[in-house]
Amino acid sequence: MAYKTVDRQTLEEVKTKIQRGMLPQWAFTNHDIYERELEHIYAKTWNFIAHESEIANPGDYVTRWIVNDPILLLRDKDGQMKAYLNSCAHRGMQLCSADFGNKSTFTCPYHGWTFNQKGELIGIVAGNKVYGHEMDKSQWGLRKIPRLESYRGMIFASLNPDAESLEDFLGGMKWYFDIMLGRTTNGMEVRGVPHRWIINTNWKISSDNFGGDPYHTAMTHRSTVELGISPQDPLYASYGHQVVLENGHGINLCTTKDGGTKYPYQGLPKELWGEFEQNLTPEQRAVLYKTVVFVGSCFPNLSFVSPMHGTGGPDEPLTSFVNFRTWRPLAPDKIEVCSWLLVDKDAPESFKEASYKSYIGSFGPAGTLEQDDGEIWTRVVDASKGYMIQHKDVHYDNVLNYIMGLDRVEPDESWPGPGVAYPTCYLDAISRAFYEQWVDMLLASEA
Ligand code: FES
Ligand SMILES: [Fe+2]
Repeated sequence: MAYKTVDRQTLEEVKTKIQRGMLPQWAFTNHDIYERELEHIYAKTWNFIAHESEIANPGDYVTRWIVNDPILLLRDKDGQMKAYLNSCAHRGMQLCSADFGNKSTFTCPYHGWTFNQKGELIGIVAGNKVYGHEMDKSQWGLRKIPRLESYRGMIFASLNPDAESLEDFLGGMKWYFDIMLGRTTNGMEVRGVPHRWIINTNWKISSDNFGGDPYHTAMTHRSTVELGISPQDPLYASYGHQVVLENGHGINLCTTKDGGTKYPYQGLPKELWGEFEQNLTPEQRAVLYKTVVFVGSCFPNLSFVSPMHGTGGPDEPLTSFVNFRTWRPLAPDKIEVCSWLLVDKDAPESFKEASYKSYIGSFGPAGTLEQDDGEIWTRVVDASKGYMIQHKDVHYDNVLNYIMGLDRVEPDESWPGPGVAYPTCYLDAISRAFYEQWVDMLLASEA
């Protein structure tokens, strides 16, 4: 019973419920749903895998995963980005086991076959002695990842050769990426290496939380209020706009209550302000000027947060940072987080260091806010495995509440950016759109 399969009719009912602001709780823990997600969402869409600064030089490589597909991403000697399945064409051994490095060739640890940066098989141990006509080396190169594209230095891959272009997939999110990632002339760079850790939760909970849930901030992150970093006002994370974008993407642009700020441009160094004028439109600059926190998600599992945080107590100045992270599904109740800290290349070193510290103290693996979230997400999944939740016939209507702002909040037509923008961040509009995209993709598989 517990993990019984879902059929088309059930998915259609789920869709209707989502449109009314309800999500069946078993969607977080049902194994059949999970298997469908891997095939019909993750294998179909674009997945963020790295930032270009991680493979800045010829020969640089990183190893990543799209769920269970191992990816070897490198920059070849001609400066081109290449992505291969990180699995040897001989017997399937994981070809490269390091997280990152610089190499001109890759030799498999099993039988020693060697591949070049173009994925070609160029060396076989004892090849002349053990293989004759049966071996055509050109047939046994590394398998290419079907699609690889980048936007503002963010590299995405897709296992689907027919996927729409990355730019079409991102849609209106590009306008907001430009503000965070394209505001300075030389773009962003990754500071340190991405951190990775495991959380016992479902990937949708974390995507949904970053994408559409500023409402949790005052309670879950209560400690920041007690430390004097966040205001006492329980509505403090509601001020600003929640913007619903196409394809299940969404972003919250949180401001202060009156839209003023004692940290223009998120406290970014004055040296960079001139560059904002060169690289952003006046509308984008105005948004950057007053936004205190950018937080959102790109469907399915790329999220970002760019807040201001302090490490020195209530009287110390706050420093902003840009954090991108992926939620890699490992099981219905387990994800691997991969988390990147990005800084403007043109920023002074002292700011880069302060920004990194600000990230580590808040959303790094042991950061206060990160720990708050992980605990909550784990407990949601723990509470979603039982008989009553799973048994659709006992109590099929065991739905969760996503009705905030459903009939009440009208879009703000004066918002200068793309998407449907609502004049508050305490709203479930992004979450509803996220789950609608999710169920639509599962339903497409049923066609
Ligand atoms: S599995 Fe790689 S050389 Fe045999
Ligand atoms: Fe949070």
